Amino acid sequence: MREKVILITGAAGEIGQALVQQLSANGANNKLLTMDLQAMPDDLQGKSTHIVGDILDERLFARLVTQYDFDVIFHLAALLSTRAEFSPELAHRVNVDGTLVLLKMAAEQSQARNRPVLFMFPSSIAAYGIPSLEIKARDQLVREWDWNMPTTMYGCNKLYCEQLGAYFSHHYQQLSVNRPVMIDFRSLRFPGLISAFTLPTGGTTDYGPEMIHAAAQGKPYACFVRSDSHLPFMAMPDAVKSLLLLARAPREALTRDVYNVTGFSISTEEIRERVMNAFPDAEISYEIDSRRQGIVDSWPAGINDNAARRDWGWKPDYDAARAFDEYLIPNIMKRYQKG
Ligand code: NAD
Ligand code: SER
Repeated sequence: MREKVILITGAAGEIGQALVQQLSANGANNKLLTMDLQAMPDDLQGKSTHIVGDILDERLFARLVTQYDFDVIFHLAALLSTRAEFSPELAHRVNVDGTLVLLKMAAEQSQARNRPVLFMFPSSIAAYGIPSLEIKARDQLVREWDWNMPTTMYGCNKLYCEQLGAYFSHHYQQLSVNRPVMIDFRSLRFPGLISAFTLPTGGTTDYGPEMIHAAAQGKPYACFVRSDSHLPFMAMPDAVKSLLLLARAPREALTRDVYNVTGFSISTEEIRERVMNAFPDAEISYEIDSRRQGIVDSWPAGINDNAARRDWGWKPDYDAARAFDEYLIPNIMKRYQKG
């Protein structure tokens, strides 16, 4: 008898760690199988069966399916936007080919178990590509179908994988096997995420979290985007909340495969001011990186998450004030005081 598990790829990353923490919290009866190129950090050891492995390794999955029955898959493994611009072909392999490996595996699993496999896929505001700053200023809250013209490899990968997931969910049939494929694909377009407990790497929204974590450690920080740049952000607990709310929503309530979710829109200068209020000695300057600035300029200042609110009751717990005052600043202070 195969063991029923929740599979989380990219589990050693920022969202993965927060999700594993939540899914393994007291009282939760979830069996987690996690996979990442990296080991899990010490504080999460023992909360899952962890496999250090590559999502591109199809032989590894062929072995795992003989032992495990994947009920739910959170497919988080990816190369983020800035990193992907440095290695676009590798990003395509991991972000697109890797997602295809997971979707094919989920399809076969659903045929074997004759029940749907829930497939959760975090997409991104990188799926948008706003052509000019004038349009960015005009279209303050973009809807899921607006400006789907990404300017980065990562954004192209995310937009395509949203569509690939929808294809596997609604149209794919493996004709050689006389059993229906049942993939319940659900995707969220996240804004920039900010965690109090982990630091991002390789993303373009990293200036937000980097500024706060640097100030808390008394390190100078040179911000790589302009002070007037606006982007949507979200506190990590809201990211996990939205993933779990969407995962638990009744299928019949869903009118879309892909939903925008957001916390608050904020300019770089407003982030700097909030950080300076908490850490008055912080040294924050601006050293613009024109390529990363170009990416930020192409992403929307805000996203419209009305569909998520209407269909599955989404509402963030953290606006900017609460995210900084109650979640980020106190926890980040504690973290570095301890260190
Ligand atoms: P992260 O970079 O912290 O984590 C990604 C993890 O994937 C890393 O631990 C990495 O080791 C792992 N990984 C990369 N290649 C792999 C491979 N070939 N095989 C196995 N593991 C591999 O990123 P995150 O912030 O936790 O993001 C998780 C997901 O959410 C990603 O798909 C990302 O695109 C998406 N997302 C994140 C944000 C954000 O602001 N953090 C915003 C929108 C969407
Ligand atoms: N925060 C992510 C990045 O900057 C967006 O998906 O890459």
